Amino acid sequence: MQDIIQQLAATRDAALLGGGSKRIESHHSKGKLTARERIELLLDQGSFEEWDMFVEHRCVDFGMADNKIPGDGVVTGYGMINGRVVFVFSQDFTVFGGSLSEAHAEKICKIMDHAIRVGAPVIGLNDSGGARIQEGVASLGGYAEVFQRNVMASGVIPQISVIMGPCAGGAVYSPAMTDFNFMVKDTSYMFVTGPDVVKSVTHETVTAEQLGGAITHSTVSGVCDRAFENDVETLLMVRSLINYLPANNKKKAPFRPTPDRADRIEMSLDTLIPDNPNVPYDMKELIYKVVDDNDFFELQPEHAQNIIVGFARMEGHVVGMVANQPLVLAGCLDIKSSIKAGRFVRFCDSFNIPIITFVDVPGFMPGTAQEYGGIIKHGAKLLFAYAEATIPKITVITRKAYGGAYDVMSSKHLRGDVNFAWPTAEIAVMGPAGAVKIIFRDESNDEQKVVERTEEYRQKFANPFVAGHRGYIDDVIAPHKTRKRICRSLNMLRDKKLENPWRKHGNIPL
Ligand code: HXC
Repeated sequence: MQDIIQQLAATRDAALLGGGSKRIESHHSKGKLTARERIELLLDQGSFEEWDMFVEHRCVDFGMADNKIPGDGVVTGYGMINGRVVFVFSQDFTVFGGSLSEAHAEKICKIMDHAIRVGAPVIGLNDSGGARIQEGVASLGGYAEVFQRNVMASGVIPQISVIMGPCAGGAVYSPAMTDFNFMVKDTSYMFVTGPDVVKSVTHETVTAEQLGGAITHSTVSGVCDRAFENDVETLLMVRSLINYLPANNKKKAPFRPTPDRADRIEMSLDTLIPDNPNVPYDMKELIYKVVDDNDFFELQPEHAQNIIVGFARMEGHVVGMVANQPLVLAGCLDIKSSIKAGRFVRFCDSFNIPIITFVDVPGFMPGTAQEYGGIIKHGAKLLFAYAEATIPKITVITRKAYGGAYDVMSSKHLRGDVNFAWPTAEIAVMGPAGAVKIIFRDESNDEQKVVERTEEYRQKFANPFVAGHRGYIDDVIAPHKTRKRICRSLNMLRDKKLENPWRKHGNIPL
């Protein structure tokens, strides 16, 4: 018995040491924490229950038969974040470069299967050289097994990917299918093909950082939801994100009591909208002033900044915020912003998180770049997402709501539950100047007439009352009462029931 216990302790020690102290040292020297250190930071102290520490690969080719390290390059198990269960896998770069073998994949799949069964989020800490080259197709099969589970878990349990080292080739597709993707600046990258292949195929010279670093993906591509300075900050932000998410699609997101009163008045909002309709203002000011404790967890803050998305709380209950940002592209909807917001709306709908939409949108972005890029199809994603969503939807039009963009932004016609407008709202087919150019084309040479017609149009349509007469707007509210009116509406909608007709699945314009 004593022998067995000693043997167990030795195997455990070997597993705990991963690829050995030299490799750990080299890993630390790059500013990276080890797989286990990361888990310790991510989870509540002492809560980690590790599984499959003794799993080894089964490869016998290329000298691998005698080259085995218990755990096989990934640490898996479950633990707590603020007392709530989460499943986690953390790839260990010090063991075969964190590369994914058949056995390594099986470990990941095991915790994913359990997470789906018990209804708890999965957090994947990715740091891997990709498919275990010595294993060939067994490794590719392992990836596909993970992908299949990513898809089955989608909309059932939240899935979070954290990229903390290399993530290349087909390996990127697991994080791509998860709900949220965080990256660490300078030490992580994601790409389908690396700089060398890029050079030989397209003759572009590009570094790994330029091609797929955290800055690239958090600004240009939008693949990444947030980029942080180092491992520690990133993991702490994952903990924060988890606080906004329900454990699964049948549970409520965690409630957090707040001293912030639901009927708090915010007088400064009465002067948020500039007198000149062409002057922008910062929509984030409205978000911060309306939500509980001025606390807003923004996603993709550097990408498609013409739309803002993220989580907040109202009276302690989690809500998703979607808002046009007049400071960027005048708040127009374009390809990137439609995709960004569409995916966010779908996440909220999957996990029963009500959505509050603040609208100031002059329309869809014109131009060949947008049309050739498929704004028709991409804009339709956001429209589809809002129309399909059955969660409580509250809309506040602060200023412009023009054209198709009015319809798209959680309008009454897309089953918006409560649609408010500020007195400064302008709800029409287009702005007064554009409208006059078209319907009074004959008078376009007469400057005086154009001014008169524009004013006439403004008086008639650049207000919330035409929509109000038809009931498309439930009420015109004083800006300073926005928080109170939203909180009341959310309370009224707490037990909302709405179901879409049965179908296998819709066909969102991908
Ligand atoms: C086996 C690997 C490995 C891999 C790294 N290692 N990647 N072992 N399979 N895929 C090993 C190295 O041999 C080395 O072992 C140790 O991990 C550390 O690697 P280094 O190269 O020393 O580290 P570094 O200089 O930091 O470079 C990291 C790297 C590089 C950029 C990731 O290792 C690399 O280019 N690896 C190959 C990447 C790759 O082509 N993967 C397959 C992609 S295709 P020793 O013993 O020397 O310490 C793919 C398809 C997935 O993944 C498809 C899914 C559908």
